[in-house]
Amino acid sequence: MPFIEIKGVSYVYPLREGVSLKAVKNLSLSIEAGEFVALTGMNGSGKSTLAKLLNGLFKPTEGEILIDGVSTANEERIFDIRRRVGMVFQNPDNQTVATLIEDDVAFGPENLGLPRDEIIKRVNFALQAVGMSEYRKRDAAKLSGGQKQRVAIAGVLAMRPDVLILDEATSMLDPAGREEVMGVVRKLVEQGITVINITHNMEEAALAKRVVVLRKGRLAIDGTPSQVFSSSLFESCGLTLPPAAALAKELKDSGIDVGTVTTEESFAEGICKLLR
Ligand SMILES: Nc1ncnc2c1ncn2[C@@H]1O[C@H](COP(=O)(O)OP(=O)(O)OP(=O)(O)O)[C@@H](O)[C@H]1O
Ligand SMILES: [Mg+2]
Repeated sequence: MPFIEIKGVSYVYPLREGVSLKAVKNLSLSIEAGEFVALTGMNGSGKSTLAKLLNGLFKPTEGEILIDGVSTANEERIFDIRRRVGMVFQNPDNQTVATLIEDDVAFGPENLGLPRDEIIKRVNFALQAVGMSEYRKRDAAKLSGGQKQRVAIAGVLAMRPDVLILDEATSMLDPAGREEVMGVVRKLVEQGITVINITHNMEEAALAKRVVVLRKGRLAIDGTPSQVFSSSLFESCGLTLPPAAALAKELKDSGIDVGTVTTEESFAEGICKLLR
């Protein structure tokens, strides 16, 4: 059984008397434990709504979402689902609750009512996992954007989640911060955590094993980065190829085939192969 099962899910925002907006439409999708998925699509395509459905913040208007076999509509299990499906958001400045970094990371486990030594163990583990151990006594407000997002990820990891959802977590960061965060994500994926990275950035999407594209609340494309980038639906989803893939496509159109290109690395490999 897949770890995450989305079965015929729709979600409707009630706007005002007699007016509503269907943000997610009859969506079915499964994600296995340990998968690294990028979720993309135009503004308003339903990505954030889906994220909030996955961690039980919203309940499906129709259909059902199962996390490890448990429905997100099951109120008795909702705290466990929220703990197991952790989220990191866009704005690095909105996510700290304490001044001191270690207190910030301890906040979640403290709210679980865990014993002191277990909290300490988890804070140590989480700070280590994001490479922020040496900053534990520092003021969270003084960190760079990338460091703040790494601390936010640590706060989620301290809850020992199964799934980490990043909702545009790198979009307010500079390239260095973006790289820092994606480095941490890559490491977490290697350690077996399931990651869903919501992003508009196709270079970032290309780092995932699987890319899911939403269009107007519906599933439009689902495949490997190279399958998605070469899909005939890609442009109609309002997306543009990452620079390396766009260049490879132009070269191919003029008769130079560098092979399947999703990232700068695969572009370089393709060029090297051609030269040999
Ligand atoms: N709280 C809300 N109340 C009413 N409508 C909402 C609410 N949040 C989102 N919507 C609408 O639901 C649709 C999906 O929005 P959602 O935020 O899920 O899209 P998104 O793919 O995350 O977009 P973005 O890329 O801009 O973050 C949009 O039409 C949006 O205007
Ligand atoms: Mg969003």
